[in-house]
Amino acid sequence: MIILGIDTSCDDTSVAVTDDFRVLSNIISSQDDIHAPWGGVVPNLARRAHEQNFPLVFKQALEQAKISEKEIDAIAVTQGHGLAISLEVGVQQARDIATRLQKPLIAVHHSEGHFVASLAADQSGHAPIMLNQIKFPALAILVAGGQTQLVSVSSFGHYEIIGETVDDALGEAFDKAARLLGLGYPGGAELSQKAVHGNAKAYQLPRPMRNSGDLNVSYAGLKTAFLRLVTEIKAQSQSEEFTTEQIQDLAASFQCAAIETLLIKVKKAIEMYGFRQVFLGGGVAANSFLRDRLTSLVNNHAAQLFFPYSTQLCRDNAAMIAVAGYLKAQKNEFVDNINNLDRDPQLTLPQ
Ligand code: KG4
Repeated sequence: MIILGIDTSCDDTSVAVTDDFRVLSNIISSQDDIHAPWGGVVPNLARRAHEQNFPLVFKQALEQAKISEKEIDAIAVTQGHGLAISLEVGVQQARDIATRLQKPLIAVHHSEGHFVASLAADQSGHAPIMLNQIKFPALAILVAGGQTQLVSVSSFGHYEIIGETVDDALGEAFDKAARLLGLGYPGGAELSQKAVHGNAKAYQLPRPMRNSGDLNVSYAGLKTAFLRLVTEIKAQSQSEEFTTEQIQDLAASFQCAAIETLLIKVKKAIEMYGFRQVFLGGGVAANSFLRDRLTSLVNNHAAQLFFPYSTQLCRDNAAMIAVAGYLKAQKNEFVDNINNLDRDPQLTLPQ
């Protein structure tokens, strides 16, 4: 089944084409340069960029997939959650395309896309895991710029949030720490690169809420502690600039604290629920320190860890929405009235 996927939930314009689980194209037009001067996503600018970028991204997705519009069997679009005025652009486009091609429309929850991204297969049909190999209930870990959640997946379409951040998301915490180190926006990936050469034990930072008794995490306290540390170092050296070694050690110490904060709760979740399989998704899933530490943790509990075959499938992208759409199409979950589909920025996960 050929699915056209569309995601404009935040600041990336993405259109993809999939054939069942196989990703034929996954075009992502990043708006990082547009939002960088403001240090965060500016909704009006995001909307305008989505409107400008969409036609080209759509064209490229079809070209790279080597399919014509007529071959599309269904259109899957992110309905929510996300930025209302960004979502609006994708939903409007999806409605227009579905009407023009007279094809069914599938509404997808953005997080559901991240949960199923490990099922996406490359051009030769290889995927980290296949649908019939999944052992439910499984644990889905979503680590993105806007969200940090631990979700128990009893089957696709049925989710229970068992833990989440009570303040900042993990990606957001990385970006704020990166900013304090002068690493640009969004600085998560760059911070993790600096951390590779640093000593994670160089500076002591807290692991907030480690003994909270629940599966929630918090990053606000860590962010404040990091700000204090950075300010102290600058005051001591009487310089606004860090040395290369200081940046690397600060990055490594922050990364270790931020990720251990999450892993303490992941361990607890696996022990409490007895999960045998763990799925990692979201932009921070590209972080190799997280992948390595999580792999050891999961293996020590005789469980298996899966993450998407490419980092393009970790960040916000439309191929994961197309895959989630394909799973919904198998259950005949199409939008009843195409013209009535509206974006829902607060859309909750189906239970
Ligand atoms: O899922 P995503 O594309 O979109 C949002 O939810 O916004 O995630 C983007 C986030 C950003 O905060 C970015 O800095 C972070 O993922 N990120 C990373 C890494 N790569 C991307 N954070 C830490 N380490 C990385 N390697």
